[in-house]
Amino acid sequence: MLTIEASGQTCGARVTGVDLSAELSCDLVAEIRKAWLEHHVLAFPDQSLTDDDLERFTVAFGGFGEDQFIAPIPGRKHVIAVQRRADETSPLFAENWHSDWSFQARPPAGTCLYGITIPPHGGDTLFANQHAALDALPAGLRARIEGRMAIHSARKPYALDGAYGEADVARRSMDIRPSPEAHKTQLHPLIQPHPETGRPALFSTYGYIVGIEGMDEAESGPLLLELYRWQGREAFQYRHVWQPHMLVMWDNRSVLHAATGGYDGYDRLLHRTTIAAF
Ligand code: SIN
Repeated sequence: MLTIEASGQTCGARVTGVDLSAELSCDLVAEIRKAWLEHHVLAFPDQSLTDDDLERFTVAFGGFGEDQFIAPIPGRKHVIAVQRRADETSPLFAENWHSDWSFQARPPAGTCLYGITIPPHGGDTLFANQHAALDALPAGLRARIEGRMAIHSARKPYALDGAYGEADVARRSMDIRPSPEAHKTQLHPLIQPHPETGRPALFSTYGYIVGIEGMDEAESGPLLLELYRWQGREAFQYRHVWQPHMLVMWDNRSVLHAATGGYDGYDRLLHRTTIAAF
């Protein structure tokens, strides 16, 4: 029987009583989906999963999303390695708040991340509930973004001269592939209803958002930064502490996430898939 224990923070729950290496029945998938929509981030501890299991789980929740700018691990099309060597000195991967691949035309509904090598301390993942961030947004700030379309782009991280650009990749263990493609832009509303629950949320944030349609940069830049600081406030956060053999799935339409450090001298390796939008 599925047991769901809420984190007691603004999102996140721990799910036990299920073996994800086995085929999941439709009822079980529906039960997990219901919990996912309620808690936005689900952690399944003590799961012994192969990449086949991880892929099967991902497909059960909507199929694979498209992973750009990071090569899949050898022999797989849809699994990427989020990794850092003990001696790596490059800036942390994914340390700023973001919603995965929000610069795509149809950004992934969710992300699955499976812990393989987990350092003894540090390396937590932070999540920030964007329904709660919107609900509490000061009216003045909300009025400035209501009805506005955000311009999304991957250029700051993944362009050839981006943060993970040509100068960075040589010293990084992750197989990141910067590209001129990163300059493409895509519009999404800054506030959008969740496609499954209808509950409105702030979608994505500064970093993958490079401007606001119809607003000059002198105005949009400070506004997006102000919003970024609001979106990641501690009041909206859940801090996820990893264990080896733990699978986490999160809802990119409801939460932002950010990696944290604090594990210099230790390897960290997780396998990641994205769940396509539907
Ligand atoms: C990610 O953004 O996919 C990585 C999160 C993490 O490394 O904690």
